Amino acid sequence: MHILMFAKQKGGVGASTLAREIGTLAAAGGERVVFVDLDPQASLSKWWNRRTADATEPPNPALAATRPDQLLGVLTHLRATDSADLVVVDVPPSVHGFLLGIMQSSDVILIPVRPTTDDFDALPDIVDMVERTGRRYAFVLTQAPTGKRIRAIEEAIPILARQGRIAGVVRFRAAFPAAGGAGLIVSEYEPGGRAAAEIAEIWAYVGAELRKLNRPPPPSLSAVV
Ligand SMILES: Nc1ncnc2c1ncn2[C@@H]1O[C@H](COP(=O)(O)OP(=O)(O)O)[C@@H](O)[C@H]1O
Ligand SMILES: [Mg+2]
Repeated sequence: MHILMFAKQKGGVGASTLAREIGTLAAAGGERVVFVDLDPQASLSKWWNRRTADATEPPNPALAATRPDQLLGVLTHLRATDSADLVVVDVPPSVHGFLLGIMQSSDVILIPVRPTTDDFDALPDIVDMVERTGRRYAFVLTQAPTGKRIRAIEEAIPILARQGRIAGVVRFRAAFPAAGGAGLIVSEYEPGGRAAAEIAEIWAYVGAELRKLNRPPPPSLSAVV
């Protein structure tokens, strides 16, 4: 079982959107996915309720309603009962102490950030916290303006690449809120669209990171000689 967690300092950066998009895409690919929504605003849970209100729903991630103090117990239970392949944890804005323990249990942490100076200025605290855990992490540039050459994006990439890696870029696209309002993900709302391609790229990045964790360690020298 792998755990994908989001981390962010500000609200509205697109974390819940990415969580539902990536988790549901993974489920469509056959993974047994469980969402955990730690945000009192409950965007992910509300979307999940819209989606599952329809009896003819496609295969879906499950939703584990849990308080932050219950989460480590829930994760232990899911692991012990082999009930999930991927747990996707969505988080409240701002740096909460309780997030540290969850980060330490995570396999990959994604930090969504909009490509603006104000958003970059808000990054250091959350990046420090993520780095303290020593877990794998990457940034996702979100709500990036569409256009051919956007200076802010090009400037953002070196700034972020100095600190970590970029999992992908998601542009500002009407398909994201439109799909969300209908309880869908963009690959269902607009199959073959650009929004779906952006999400597929991020899931490919996360999947590759997770496969690295599954790889057996290289043989020790004594086993080779
Ligand atoms: N790539 C995008 N393009 C356009 N709108 C987006 C995009 N990502 C998110 N949104 C919209 O921005 C708002 C905040 O997104 P949300 O995922 O809830 O952010 P967070 O969970 O970080 O607070 C929502 O209205 C959402 O529909
Ligand atoms: Mg959210």
